[in-house]
Amino acid sequence: MIIIKTEQEIQKMWEAGKLLASVHREIAQMIEPGISTYEIDQFVEEYLERHGATAEQKGYMGYEYATCASINDEICHGFPRKKPLEDGDIVGIDMVVNLDGWLADSAWTYGVGNISEEAQKLLDVTKESLYLGIEQAVIGNRIGDISHAIQSYVEPKGFSVVRNFVGHGIGKDIHEDPQVPHFGRPGRGPRLMEGMVLTIEPMINIGAYGCTIDANGWTARTIDGKLSAQYEHTLAITEKGPIILTDQDSLE
Ligand code: MF3
Ligand code: CO
Repeated sequence: MIIIKTEQEIQKMWEAGKLLASVHREIAQMIEPGISTYEIDQFVEEYLERHGATAEQKGYMGYEYATCASINDEICHGFPRKKPLEDGDIVGIDMVVNLDGWLADSAWTYGVGNISEEAQKLLDVTKESLYLGIEQAVIGNRIGDISHAIQSYVEPKGFSVVRNFVGHGIGKDIHEDPQVPHFGRPGRGPRLMEGMVLTIEPMINIGAYGCTIDANGWTARTIDGKLSAQYEHTLAITEKGPIILTDQDSLE
């Protein structure tokens, strides 16, 4: 069942989203060779607490960290760890902020030091695919229009779209209906309505789209060891078009 949000509820999710966006801004300043994803995770947990919010992922289905930190061939759900990041790594940091019971979810992939041209292209294409998906998030379109916009942009660039993980509705729970695949056919799936709040979160691989799951039961990584990137926003569908609740560019 898709839970429609009121304007006031969207406003609350927007507050959570603005806080989340400000965390990503801070992380962008911190990322450099030598820092660990464990340190970033500690920072995020403390920063949220200082701002009256909590890290919703911690304790979610037994997950133990405030953030997911997915390095290089890790697609998603990487565990923060004490091993320092190295020059040339790419690292996706994903988190869900809970502010007064309302959630926002956003992931961002960061280059560490100097990254290869190929890695930079992967980041650029992945981020652009997210925004092309968001453009389709208008009343009257269908979920498949978002999916198709992403897949039809990414694949001609020679990259692949991960199938095993999808975007989702979000509100007071991390994962609500509907699912938002990042591949699929236009004109298919649930129709988009005013007051829906969704995540769009393409995971894009340089090689094949398949994945394996680590022995920890969580971490997904590419089957061929090639790089994977992810960008994710939470957005509301409104009469005026999509509002990106986790937008970093609109922060003062
Ligand atoms: N933030 C994730 C998403 O985009 C959810 C992570 S699941 C967790 O859907 F268990 F790691 F929290
Ligand atoms: Co997320």
